[in-house]
Amino acid sequence: MAEYKTVRGMRDMLPGDAERLRQVESQARTVAKQYGYGEIVTPIVESHELLSAKAGEEVKSRMFVFKDLGGRDVALRPEFTASVARLVATALRNVARPLRLFSVGSVYRYDEPQKGRYREFWQTNYELMGSARPEADAETLLLTNRLMQANGLKKFAFKVGHVGILKGVLTEEELSENVQAAVLQLMDKKQYEEALSLVKSAGSSPKGVNTLRSLVEQRGTEVQATVARIAKIVADYERSVQAAKNLEEILNLVLKSGCTTELTVDAGFARGLEYYTGFIFEVYVPDLDIALGGGGRYDRLIELFGGDPTPAVGVAHGVDRIMLALQGQQTEKPVEMENEVMVVPIREKLKAEALRVAEQLRNQGLRVDLEIMGRKMARALEDADKRGFKYVILIGENELKEGAVVVKDLVKREQNTVKIEQVPDLVKGSKKPCERTQES
Ligand code: HAM
Repeated sequence: MAEYKTVRGMRDMLPGDAERLRQVESQARTVAKQYGYGEIVTPIVESHELLSAKAGEEVKSRMFVFKDLGGRDVALRPEFTASVARLVATALRNVARPLRLFSVGSVYRYDEPQKGRYREFWQTNYELMGSARPEADAETLLLTNRLMQANGLKKFAFKVGHVGILKGVLTEEELSENVQAAVLQLMDKKQYEEALSLVKSAGSSPKGVNTLRSLVEQRGTEVQATVARIAKIVADYERSVQAAKNLEEILNLVLKSGCTTELTVDAGFARGLEYYTGFIFEVYVPDLDIALGGGGRYDRLIELFGGDPTPAVGVAHGVDRIMLALQGQQTEKPVEMENEVMVVPIREKLKAEALRVAEQLRNQGLRVDLEIMGRKMARALEDADKRGFKYVILIGENELKEGAVVVKDLVKREQNTVKIEQVPDLVKGSKKPCERTQES
């Protein structure tokens, strides 16, 4: 009798492992709720064409591709982003933005099996569609931070970069899209010399090559100083200057939100997937040299799939790798979910404070949606009302000076000025507010 084994790269999960997998999944679902991401389920089998568009050579060459019995060219999904973008371009086309969508499930890549690298693995995936603003980029990093903490990981750190800085130089040096993609693929594998040779042979000026050479040497945990060095190096490339400004703005928001996790800015950092257009990041733990999660901004994919131009940013986490990192570490108790609120800065310049208060309220167990469309207050309130929020937390300068915010009860149509730490009690209805003003 033949003795059957699992296919190479595939694994069984026995009771302990399966339970741990479901625990990570459940933490991810809690985080999705805390940030207002609705769960969707998409098929494991999708059209090969959809999955290969802008996936990048590396992922494309590792897909499980086959013809179904009807002769269609299909593949097992190597990630979720293409499926979510397809949905946003079609069935969710007319749904109000922003759209926050969460998925979890198995994905498939024909990678060389080794520790933390499998051919069937699990991802938790968050996509935020419809906002081009830095608050949206910051949110994907912050929810990753929370997910790592919620799982009980103590030592982890982010690597951050911006595809636009590298692409700005390549575009202004008039290198074709294909060459740019090939250069970034080489940089993703840290083959910088090969990348620079390609840039040179594709017709870049010596100045372009030298600029890129200095860029890829820039990395540091002093966020502002590193970004300032980068901006100086690309000073003659306007698109790259803009990209560096965008990176600085995103990272400032992250820092001001109260996130104390180490950030390493790396100007030569690129990611394997080809659809990225802006901010990119990955999260690592010291004892594993493989990323536990990664993501970034991709503003062109939805229109490529026939949808309306839609800015988007997202992140996926490797559940198996989180489980590996957790081995031997103590896990903490899951955060209990409570009522939901929407946080709205009353002025554009208060967005960093809004992000910080939102994080503070989530720390206290509240479910918080943040206004990230730069809408004026009246529009934001209308939107919150439409989407069924009971409370809106208004972030205003005067109240903040007192460590307070205005809590608007959209059902009772009244508002109260409340100390931030008392907001959870108020929205849970267990405490009286300190000051109450009837709305006119
Ligand atoms: P990715 O970096 O290709 O991004 O994958 C995300 C995470 O999946 C990785 O950081 C890693 O933890 C895990 N992973 C990748 N390959 C394997 C493997 N062979 N075995 C185990 N775990 C693995 C994406 O997939 C993008 N869709 C992320 C994204 C969402 N960008 C925008 N939105």
